[in-house]
Amino acid sequence: MSERKSIHGEWSSRLAFFFAATGSAVGLGNIWKFPYIAGDNGGGAFIIVYLACVVLIGLPILIAEVTLGRRGRESPVNTLRSLALDEGRSRAWVGVGFIGMVSGIIILSFYSVVAGWSLDYLLLSLRGAYAGASADRVSRLFAGLTGNPWRQMLWFTLFLAVSLWFSARGVRAGLERAARIMMPALFVLLLLLVAYALIVGNAADAFAYLFKPDFSRLNGQVLLVAMGHSFFTLSLGIGAMMVYGAYMPNGVSIFRVSVWVAAADTGIALLAGLAIFPLVFAKGLAPAQGPGLIFTTLPLAFGAMPLGSLFGAAFFALLVLAAWTSAVSMIEPTVAWLEERGVGRVRSTLAVGAVVWLLGMVMDFSFNIWSGVAWQGRSLFELFNFVSSDIMLPLGGFLIALFTGWMVSERSLRRELGVSRPLLRLWLLVLRYVTPVGVLLIFLNALGLIRGAL
Ligand code: PHE
Repeated sequence: MSERKSIHGEWSSRLAFFFAATGSAVGLGNIWKFPYIAGDNGGGAFIIVYLACVVLIGLPILIAEVTLGRRGRESPVNTLRSLALDEGRSRAWVGVGFIGMVSGIIILSFYSVVAGWSLDYLLLSLRGAYAGASADRVSRLFAGLTGNPWRQMLWFTLFLAVSLWFSARGVRAGLERAARIMMPALFVLLLLLVAYALIVGNAADAFAYLFKPDFSRLNGQVLLVAMGHSFFTLSLGIGAMMVYGAYMPNGVSIFRVSVWVAAADTGIALLAGLAIFPLVFAKGLAPAQGPGLIFTTLPLAFGAMPLGSLFGAAFFALLVLAAWTSAVSMIEPTVAWLEERGVGRVRSTLAVGAVVWLLGMVMDFSFNIWSGVAWQGRSLFELFNFVSSDIMLPLGGFLIALFTGWMVSERSLRRELGVSRPLLRLWLLVLRYVTPVGVLLIFLNALGLIRGAL
């Protein structure tokens, strides 16, 4: 067990850690991205591959991050510094912590814009703006939002401000409280939406789409998409789970609670699919790609359903809640690091917030004023998304797997984890060989994409 103490405080219990870590994991990745990539990549067959990736790649890194965090009890940068020193390794490993901090800030800049859309749509739903609307009008609603930089700014700023408020309040009064209130609310809303979708929508087609494996659609690309997503959805590679581990009380089984977090995250992604696709199929709509599915296809479906505006509002509220508890975890590595350097928590949060906000403005403008700016066929928004999610995140995860698997002694890991030797060995085996090879593949795919775009 770690002998160090966190200056930032600790979660009040194992359950509090579970809520906070699940809050980080469950986000736009689960509710927006998962359903559409699952459908796009062969439904049931993709889901089987994705589950395998979560178990073989995601879970071992999740356990590694939490273990390192609890041993170091500091921000990822300082945790890596202490552990590298303890183990007599190069100090250069702190670089992994810095990569994570930068990724978290970049991810939050575009994440806030998408979460801001959800806030706008929450209001649109309550006003019945898309009730009975045609496909054309629903698309115009979305274009009207993204085309208006000030309206977009208002919502993303509001989203960010609330996230920063929770961050500034600290580990227990802020992060833990947010997760404790929002996660149960999110779960109840999601169950209500699933029930609604199964009753008024086309449940049979949705089940077939999501759960009937069509193995002929499996290929290398599907495998890579599944691996990449197993990363993003578990918040790995940026140190978010590491810093959450730094606040975990001693005596909590890291293995067990990590398994629960991964299971809850996967369960919620599947439920999100069941809340969305029955509605999409009931109207004979195509499961469109990217932002379209949630912000144009789904409102069209809700708009044609009984009580659609009300349940539409519940859906967008769900997205915002999920995004808030993820947002706070993206900046926690940096906030904790600044605090360790003697900057007060409120100031640290404001400083990080200012940077995220400025980058967020770039993301905002990339849809309107700067929509013509592109690099290798990608808009600024797509570029930020690509570089952080597809390059920096896997890189961070790869290095974390290498550090834990090869640089930290088995004895230190065993002391922190407190599991039987065969289980530890099995985990290490996966972490040393399977995970790095898997991540390397995701990475090569990303590089391949760059080449493809050239
Ligand atoms: N896991 C979050 C989601 O699925 C995204 C995230 C990535 C959060 C990295 C924190 C760190 O939406």
